[in-house]
Amino acid sequence: LPHFVSVEKLTVDQIAALIARAEYFKQGGATPAFKQPVYVTNMFFENSTRTHTSFAMAEKKLGLTEIPFDAAHSSMAKGETLYDTCLVMNALGVDLSVIRATQNAYYEPLIHPQDDQHLDLGIVNAGDGSGQHPSQSLLDMMTIHEHFGHFKGLKVAIVGDITNSRVARSNMEILTRLGAEVYFSGPEYWYDHAFDQYGKYRPLDELVGTVDVMMLLRVQHERHAGDANEARFDAANYHREYGINHDRYDRLKDDCIIMHPGPINHDVELAGDLVEAPQSAFFKQMQNGVFMRMAMLEAVVRGRRLGGLE
Ligand code: CP
Repeated sequence: LPHFVSVEKLTVDQIAALIARAEYFKQGGATPAFKQPVYVTNMFFENSTRTHTSFAMAEKKLGLTEIPFDAAHSSMAKGETLYDTCLVMNALGVDLSVIRATQNAYYEPLIHPQDDQHLDLGIVNAGDGSGQHPSQSLLDMMTIHEHFGHFKGLKVAIVGDITNSRVARSNMEILTRLGAEVYFSGPEYWYDHAFDQYGKYRPLDELVGTVDVMMLLRVQHERHAGDANEARFDAANYHREYGINHDRYDRLKDDCIIMHPGPINHDVELAGDLVEAPQSAFFKQMQNGVFMRMAMLEAVVRGRRLGGLE
């Protein structure tokens, strides 16, 4: 792949190959032997703990050279565009940029330069607005695969602030293609009936006890500007109606895992004292993220024939 910006165009075979490669890295499999250095910048224009650090760790483990980039102190604060900033990276010898930005599909002008433009930089999308978050989707698939060994027939509930989630959109599409049965729950005002093509919208208490995966989504207050439901939002009400409390946790199937992309709003999506509960898979997701990001970065390095690899 010359760039890694979305998951929706990946075939089922490509997804399976990325999961297999990430599992291989997790088991201590050898990393590619680069004959020349490969330089990477991590350009994060939105806050991040997991994704940013996980990409940095993946780059280190893979043998790539990270060139530090501080978005807040970059010349974008003086008005330089993202495209021009990428041209700078290109001129300085950077091969790949991992980018998180607020604008949906920010990567389009970067991966499809116009006739008179010459940007030649591999782009890895670390999250674009409410668009996509491919590394999160793939690490989620890896975590489900690691736990169950397959996807076919698994019942997966996606619960919460679905309309604003870049993770939910990709996951519902991929899970359906992989043969899982998708269900939705959460506030109807943060649900879009366009999602009905992928699954059924149900009350949470109907899903607890029947699903294999309970995928919770963060309430994304930062994306609710102008949303009247934000002004009416009450954390305790949300937790009572749509959160996993102890009663619901106790009714989960024994083998059910709870997933959450993080960061978790304690006592909103999940009771704070269940974050480290046995059926919570959050730390497994984070751990798997490093290995999945290694697999993604390697795919782009190979796709661009970098590092002297055949
Ligand atoms: N899941 C996720 O994207 O977390 P961060 O915002 O901390 O990177």
